Formats: sequence, C-alpha cells, structure tokens
Amino acid sequence: MEEYKQFYKGKTVLVTGGAGAIGSNLTRELAELGAHVIVVDDLSSGQIWNVPSVANVLFVKGSILDEVILKRVFFERPQIVFHLAAFFANQNSVDHPERDLMVNGMGTLRMLEYSVLTGVERFVYASSGCAIYGGDMPLPLKEDFITMHLSTPYQITKMLGELYCNFFYHHYGLKVVKPRFFNSYGPGEVPGQYRNVIPNFIYWAMKGLPLPITGTGEETRDFTYVGDLVDGLLRAGYFESAIGQSFNLASGREVKIIELANMVNKLTGNDAGVRFVSRRKWDTKKRRWASIELAKKLIGYEPKMQFEEGLKITIQWFRDNWEKIEASAEFGPGASSAVREMVVKKD
Ligand SMILES: NC(=O)c1ccc[n+]([C@@H]2O[C@H](COP(=O)([O-])OP(=O)(O)OC[C@H]3O[C@@H](n4cnc5c(N)ncnc54)[C@H](O)[C@@H]3O)[C@@H](O)[C@H]2O)c1
Repeated sequence: MEEYKQFYKGKTVLVTGGAGAIGSNLTRELAELGAHVIVVDDLSSGQIWNVPSVANVLFVKGSILDEVILKRVFFERPQIVFHLAAFFANQNSVDHPERDLMVNGMGTLRMLEYSVLTGVERFVYASSGCAIYGGDMPLPLKEDFITMHLSTPYQITKMLGELYCNFFYHHYGLKVVKPRFFNSYGPGEVPGQYRNVIPNFIYWAMKGLPLPITGTGEETRDFTYVGDLVDGLLRAGYFESAIGQSFNLASGREVKIIELANMVNKLTGNDAGVRFVSRRKWDTKKRRWASIELAKKLIGYEPKMQFEEGLKITIQWFRDNWEKIEASAEFGPGASSAVREMVVKKD
C-alpha cells in the first residue's frame, strides 16, 4: 500500500460534514485504512445512512457552531482535521445568506480555533474552485488567478474560509491545506433543490422526466469523481509539500451540460429528453475547466476515473439505494425564498 495511505492507520481523524456527499466517501476510505474517525455532522444536508456503520467510526450529531459539540469532538484529540462541513451551495446561500455566513464563516473560524488550541497536526479545508475564480477568467483555471467578482454569498464565504486558513497558518503556524474542489459527482450525493446537476439529472431521468437545462447546454463543467477527490484529500493530509498551499482538485477536462444530459438519458433509458429553462442570475460561469498541474506537482494527484464510467457507477448507486434516495431528496417550490416572499406579498 502507498505510504500516504498507510499513514492513516491508527491516526485519530476528525471529519466535519462526514455524512455528506464527499465526507461520507472520505470517512469510508479512512475507516478502511484503519484510522479512528470522528464524524461531526448536523445532518442538515447529509444522511445518517451514508455514514459507514463500523467500529472505528464515531458519529457525533451536532453543529460545528455548537461549542459543546466542538469540545466533545476535540476531546478525542484528533491529529488530522478534514473540514468539509458547509452550508451548500450557491442557490442555498442566495436564499439563506445569514445561515451561509454562520456555518461557512463562523463555523470554519471555530474549527480553526479549536484546532490550534488542541494541537491538531494538519487542517485540510474543503475549498471550492467555483467560489474562488469568479466569472470570466482565463482557462484553464490556475491557482494564482484572483478575483473580487464573486457572485453568491457561498462563493464569498468559501473564499473567506481560505483567508482564515491563511491567517491561522501565518499567525499560529497551524499546518493548513486548501484543496479547491471542482464539481464533485459520484455515489453518496443525494439529489435535492440545492444539489449538483449530476445527481439531479439522474434523479429526474430515473423518474422519466425531461432534464431541465438552465442555459443553452453549451456551458461546461469540470466534473470530478468523488473517489479522485478522496484520493486528493488523503494526499493533502499527508504530504509536507501541501502545507500552506491552495491547489485545484479536478479532472482537468470539460464536459458540456447538454452532453451530460444526453449521456444520463442514454444510460438510464430515459426518452423524455431535455427542456431549457432560464439561466440563474448568479450563474455567470459559461465554462469551467481547471489546471491540475499544481496538485500533480505538490502531492502527485492523478485523477483516474473516466467520466462515462463514473456516471455508470453513480447510476448504479442510485438503483441500489433508490428507496432511501427518494425518501431523502428534498425539492422545494423551486423559487428562491426572496422571490417567494415577493410573490406572497403581491398576492
Ligand atoms: N460538491 C462539490 O461539488 C463541491 C465543490 C467544491 C467544494 N465543495 C466543498 O466540499 C465540502 C463537502 O461538500 P459536499 O458536496 O459533500 O456537501 P454536502 O452538503 O453533501 O456535505 C456537507 C455536510 O456538512 C453538514 N453540515 C452542514 N452544516 C453543518 C454544521 N453547521 N455543522 C455540522 N455539519 C454541518 C451537512 O449535513 C452535510 O452532511 C463542502 O465544504 C463544500 O463547500 C464541494
């Protein structure tokens, strides 16, 4: 087994957001590698059935904003922290900006404070490529590109998290690492009003409905298989060369949304096609495609999953867990709460 994986055997590792799409996959992998994993998650968007139920995973239900919960989990003296809990994502933050600031801003600050206080050896912060690079930027997206033009509260607070990490690194010497994820997909992500396009497309397709495309379909995203992200996270927690750094974790390829929709329809046998709806105002990114050169150089990151293969695995996970997924998927009325209030007032 590779050294960076062996490293986790017997380590005490805290995963915030470990019931979520990415965190549950990370938790499973860490447990298999022999780590003692503590998961803290308030289940606001994660699912308890997603957390592996094994002896070396301790699940603590609660919020990273709750100091009693923080004292409880840091009492276990984690050596490595993977901070993945977040108020997810863009549209959710547009609808609930204060909650977004509390969880992604204050929550991250508290995690950093407790990590310094208890001598955590490595703090890995789940940053976001979509948050950092703004709207119109040169492609492929490279880490040194900086913009002030962020279009949602989520983008602002995910950036804020990176800035706080920088402060704790420079001021207290906390060994932070800030991988920037790009559009994760794979088993473990339950569809819903505020979730990513891939689980939602699969969900609608399995219900025999046309897939809603918000735009022209020519938009692109750099979809990254969750297993590749987990591998990048394990590397980020181990390699010394990662400390203090921000780097993209992506697939390094672009896929058009229309191509994705056609693939999902083909693989699920859905003949309802697609329907076009208007672009969301904050969605200013026509193309998203990341350079992964820095992650390769710093931590030897090399994404392995072919896109169509990853989609097939994800669809199989939907088939295997359909009842639970259907019961957990939450879709609101589809309008932002701001708009909803205006509609109510007019009526
Ligand atoms: N999924 C992506 O494409 C993507 C892209 C870039 C960055 N990220 C970042 O990666 C991380 C994980 O994303 P994900 O897709 O797994 O999201 P997710 O919503 O599935 O997981 C986040 C988890 O955090 C939990 N949580 C939320 N608020 C909490 C709180 N106050 N206290 C404790 N737990 C809380 C939720 O219940 C959920 O289980 C997030 O930080 C996200 O910003 C994700």
